[in-house]
Amino acid sequence: MHDRVGLPDVVAAASARLPGGPPVSARRAAAAAVAAGRGGRRGRGGRGLVLPAAGDLAGGLRGRRCGGGAVEAGRAPARGRGRRAVGDATDGPGDGDARGGGRRGVGKALGSGGHDDGEAGHEHATAGVEPFFGDRQAGIATAAQAHALFAAFDLAAADLASGEALDAAAVAANLEALLRDWSAVSAALAAGEAPPKAAIDGADQFDAEAVASGLDPARLTVTFGIGPAAFAKAGLEAARPSKLAELPEFDGDRLNPAWSGGDLLVQVCGDDQQVVSAAFLELRKRAVGRGTLLWVQQGFSSAPSGGTPRNLMGFKDGSANPEAGSALFDERVWAVDSEPSWFEGGTYQVFRKIRMRLPDWSVLSAEDQNLTFGRERDSGAPLSGGGEFDHPDFEVLDDSGLPAVPADSHVAVVHDAAMVRRGFNYDYGFLTQGDVSSDASGDGHLDGHMHAAHPYDAGLLFVSFQADPQVFIDAQEKMAAGDRLAEFITAEGSGVYAVPSGAPDGGFVGEGLFRS
Ligand code: HEM
Repeated sequence: MHDRVGLPDVVAAASARLPGGPPVSARRAAAAAVAAGRGGRRGRGGRGLVLPAAGDLAGGLRGRRCGGGAVEAGRAPARGRGRRAVGDATDGPGDGDARGGGRRGVGKALGSGGHDDGEAGHEHATAGVEPFFGDRQAGIATAAQAHALFAAFDLAAADLASGEALDAAAVAANLEALLRDWSAVSAALAAGEAPPKAAIDGADQFDAEAVASGLDPARLTVTFGIGPAAFAKAGLEAARPSKLAELPEFDGDRLNPAWSGGDLLVQVCGDDQQVVSAAFLELRKRAVGRGTLLWVQQGFSSAPSGGTPRNLMGFKDGSANPEAGSALFDERVWAVDSEPSWFEGGTYQVFRKIRMRLPDWSVLSAEDQNLTFGRERDSGAPLSGGGEFDHPDFEVLDDSGLPAVPADSHVAVVHDAAMVRRGFNYDYGFLTQGDVSSDASGDGHLDGHMHAAHPYDAGLLFVSFQADPQVFIDAQEKMAAGDRLAEFITAEGSGVYAVPSGAPDGGFVGEGLFRS
């Protein structure tokens, strides 16, 4: 029923259909809006909102797409792939000894070129190489790339050849081998080199697929996380990070097991989709016999030059993140105390596939959209005044004497939560496959055609890194209880993972776990 994919068939792995489909046109999106639109949204001061007629709605969508210049601006030239040779790029600014606590050129702010001029992020974009080895794993403090792929695996429970159940020691051996091989592959690909040959490759096969041949590494990063259940399966329960436990299901969640959980999460990011896809295929190949692919999600992010990326609701997303490498960033992200020693310097990653009700959202007035977030859509500035990077002032009143930043606006509800967000937009178009849809229990037909809602599956692959996942839980509970954004979003996938610190040169991520 769900997309649980066995790994033995490597050929199938290469051609496996990933969730998602072609982007839809504004006209089709408008049709979905008409089909799915609903009224009665709360506006300012509890006023009900009236949805416009279908024709206006379609026009509104078209207008928004055309009018959203900044949204549509796409990648700035600075984010274009550097075409320098790898050796040259490796010597470029922002690599080598800059990894870890103070990585040079990591970008002033995650997901943006920076709070000021974005030059630091630019340096890395030009170099094209994000070193894999270092104190911290790459892909956390790294300025967000244009593309991301998240793949979750479960550890194999049975021997591939004999079918016999594996004991904990064998599962641990598989986990170790997987992390070792994955690290070696990731390090090579990130440096623009051919990865080591996979054990399952025959003598007459190419050492590596030529999928990304001729392309530079495009700031490829691969980040590994370990899910809560993996530790017990591998007999390593005593070494489980102290705050790692499955997330609860929150009010309003509509979680699809096919998009949730996993013993391992692999986050692959890069400025070139082809490079990301090639890396995924190389990684997946190494999982044969060791793990089973559970789910894959793919996202994208486009930052206007030196600016903060926008989500698919049109708002700048990431403005309140602390600067990468700042004391506040370090304090929020890196786990230090009360952790097993092997995990010190790691972090906890929360992943949520959050679908947006874009048809509903698109018919809100500009004022109501702004009030939902507590910020101005175009500038990103708090409604209390100031610029994008100023803190909202919850004491400031508007002309009608109400708080300028409503108490139930998103930023008021989650303000100052001690996390760093690094999400990516996703747009899978219209869901047409009942078997991958959490709407399948509705009226999904055998041909996958959904009559009830023609659901448009687009939203945010929410990612947060934090020293304590309780921070996410607290913020999410507050959102579920009283955030007006909650009316427009539904979490459909969920997971939490312990992300170990980085690997030393030639080592592998999570190495310390097997010596603890
Ligand atoms: C589709 C879902 C979501 C969307 C579209 C969204 C969008 C935004 C936007 C536009 C901002 C203001 C700009 C910024 O600081 O980045 C923001 C801030 C923030 N969001 Fe979300 N968000 C979503 C879900 C979540 C979730 C699930 C959490 C955590 C449980 C969260 C936590 C935060 C935090 C901590 C801030 C910074 C608030 C501050 O300190 O002022 N968001 N979000």
